[in-house]
Amino acid sequence: MCEIKKVGIIGLGAYLPERVLTNKDLEKMVDTTDEWITSRSGIKERRIARPDEATSDMATEAAKRALKDANLKPEDIDLIIVATITPDMFFPATACLVQEKIGAKTCPAFDVSVACSGFIYGIAIAEQFIRSGTYKYALVIAAEKLSAITDWSDRSTCVLFGDGAGAAVLGPVEKGGILSVFLGANGKQGDLIKLPAGGSRIPASKKSVEDKLHFIKMNGAELFKHAVKVMADAALQATAPLGLKAEDISLVIPHQANLRILNAVAKRMGLSTDKIYLNIERYGNMSAASSAVALVEAVKEGRIKKGDKILLDAFGGGLSWGAIVIEW
Ligand SMILES: CC(C)(COP(=O)(O)OP(=O)(O)OC[C@H]1O[C@@H](n2cnc3c(N)ncnc32)[C@H](O)[C@@H]1OP(=O)(O)O)[C@@H](O)C(=O)NCCC(=O)NCCS
Repeated sequence: MCEIKKVGIIGLGAYLPERVLTNKDLEKMVDTTDEWITSRSGIKERRIARPDEATSDMATEAAKRALKDANLKPEDIDLIIVATITPDMFFPATACLVQEKIGAKTCPAFDVSVACSGFIYGIAIAEQFIRSGTYKYALVIAAEKLSAITDWSDRSTCVLFGDGAGAAVLGPVEKGGILSVFLGANGKQGDLIKLPAGGSRIPASKKSVEDKLHFIKMNGAELFKHAVKVMADAALQATAPLGLKAEDISLVIPHQANLRILNAVAKRMGLSTDKIYLNIERYGNMSAASSAVALVEAVKEGRIKKGDKILLDAFGGGLSWGAIVIEW
């Protein structure tokens, strides 16, 4: 008989590149100031991967740390999902590269591409496989080298992004675990943030490079408005079916896009801002890796205790969004 299982996060790991790029450094690169960046976004510094360091390298390091934390071996893993919009290459999937690098067995391995919502989508997919009894242990990794797709001459975007990776091992648990999942997307808003070229619509060409179409293009002000709305709504959609109110959530682990967005989300949810975990000041927006690294650091700092109900909440390109309630 197939018994429905409870699924939880049983190991976590993160990897951040060594190089720190501060707002002061950016002042020398584009027409900006530390004051502007800090007051408009909350970001002070971000990490930048080495030229020879690709997304799969960062993902592999985070995955090894998560496996160690879970006390599992690579061969115990039955499924590998990498959430990324900066894969090493279009194919093979970065998850396949990670499978080889960590020495896992020939388990299924694939990438998910929903930008900053990727860690939440990855957890949602892995949870289904484990809960149904198909697989026992899954690795969900969120890794990004956004510095590779950032236009370092565009002050409106280059100050916001950074590189890094976070990983979670999911497996069956006795108590608690993932209580609810809510995912959504709206392709009508796809133009608000995108990387226009390099795919089948605009293949790479001399012109696409000259036109800088291989870099992130973003409508920041519009995104800001949508972000506040969809993050607050996703939080409600994930908590309401459980009969939970905002005050029942011990800590929100949000996607770290902008401090002002997160303050507005907290206000809309009726939560005090100290219940929102923040590390945006140190890393900027690492897309899918932001909420993953935030979760790793929140646990490490003792901000999440056994029995706490926490909320992962993200929005990103697509547009896409998602929220997950976990009892720790
Ligand atoms: C990008 C963002 C920080 C800009 O903040 P903002 O308060 O909306 O600022 P605006 O876009 O209105 O720009 C205000 C002015 O600052 C200027 N500016 C933009 N970037 C600047 C920078 N790095 N330094 C100095 N000035 C800058 C603009 O050119 C504009 O000047 P103008 O009024 O003379 O035209 C903000 O809109 C944001 O975070 N949006 C969401 C982005 C996001 O989340 N993206 C990822 C999605 S997962």
